[in-house]
Amino acid sequence: MKALAYEKAHPLDAFALELVDVAEPRPRDADLLVGVRAVGINPGETAIRRTRSAEPGGRLILGWEFAGVVEAVGPDATGFAVGDRVMGTGDMARDGAWAERLSVDHRVVARIPDRLSFSDAASLPIGGLTAWEALFRDRDRHGDRDGDRDGDGDRDGLAAGIDRVLIVGGAGGVGTLATQLLKSRTSALVVSTASRPASREWCTRAGADAVVDHTGDVPGQLRDAGVDRVDLVLSTAGTSGNIGWIAEILRPFGHLAAVDLNGPLDLGPLVGKSVSLHTETVFSSFMAGGDVAGQGRILAELAADAVAGRIRPLTTTVLGGLSVDTMRTAHELAESGRTIGKTVIAM
Ligand SMILES: NC(=O)c1ccc[n+]([C@@H]2O[C@H](COP(=O)([O-])OP(=O)(O)OC[C@H]3O[C@@H](n4cnc5c(N)ncnc54)[C@H](OP(=O)(O)O)[C@@H]3O)[C@@H](O)[C@H]2O)c1
Repeated sequence: MKALAYEKAHPLDAFALELVDVAEPRPRDADLLVGVRAVGINPGETAIRRTRSAEPGGRLILGWEFAGVVEAVGPDATGFAVGDRVMGTGDMARDGAWAERLSVDHRVVARIPDRLSFSDAASLPIGGLTAWEALFRDRDRHGDRDGDRDGDGDRDGLAAGIDRVLIVGGAGGVGTLATQLLKSRTSALVVSTASRPASREWCTRAGADAVVDHTGDVPGQLRDAGVDRVDLVLSTAGTSGNIGWIAEILRPFGHLAAVDLNGPLDLGPLVGKSVSLHTETVFSSFMAGGDVAGQGRILAELAADAVAGRIRPLTTTVLGGLSVDTMRTAHELAESGRTIGKTVIAM
């Protein structure tokens, strides 16, 4: 089959992915073999391209956000049938979806209804899972799906005492889905940050109650909007540079959930307020032995939300065909740091 692969880590201006013939994937017992129809492109994947090389003599196939059709079902892959339309992520230690077919653990796959196009479905898994896990910390992990019937203090998945949330980078994939999940599942006030007219408008359409500019005086803008402090900041971009004003706007014993931590972060500004720091890596369930099946349940809820209109898919750019040119364009967009919504390549 054809796949986009590379050998050595490289920068964008030396883009070296090539469309090559590779062996067909060999599914494991718990795998689905999926014919890929669309892939979402994420900043994290471009970061891997810049930093991770294959073993000597080997090659890497990235891409862990896809929609497609099930072509074969492993003996332990329960709940799926050949022909099912599906979306999912994958395991970044294995080959990804920038290929005609991929082999993927069924626990990180969900069926999608006919009404959801492949391109729209491919925009949801990574941003949706990341936002869900960063916001609704323990809901699925502890099996508490009862709207707090067991009285453990959660409310629609948000921890007790979280009523005002600021989302930094509201127009990106994670920020857009976080806004929609919060507005459709909780009663929290949501303020998003965006620095341009188009990204501001996108955040408002996603449901943000107010939008402030992260390149300006955020605490001042929040005060002008009648919000003195927030209970939770979900930071999806520029966390290390923004940490000063993030600490300023958080209430004492507030929460910072950060999804872009890949270098040093000065925690000093948070300490005086006894802030809880939540890190989030969407692949930690695989990498660290967490509840992988819980991610499949979240994906199924995202698909149901999309069909019911509770969340809108994020696809803003659809590039046609899996080729070096479309993938290079997608990487350029992802690395610009100015993406609104999600870039998708449709096969
Ligand atoms: N932890 C995980 O598992 C996980 C999963 C998915 C993504 N991520 C990471 O999360 C980050 C966001 O990814 P994404 O796909 O949601 O969106 P993205 O495409 O990286 O986000 C772009 C948005 O960020 C805003 N932005 C850029 N620089 C900013 C800054 N310094 N301060 C505040 N906002 C800024 C931009 O808004 P304006 O154009 O309005 O300025 C733009 O709308 C990436 O670093 C990605 O690698 C992590």
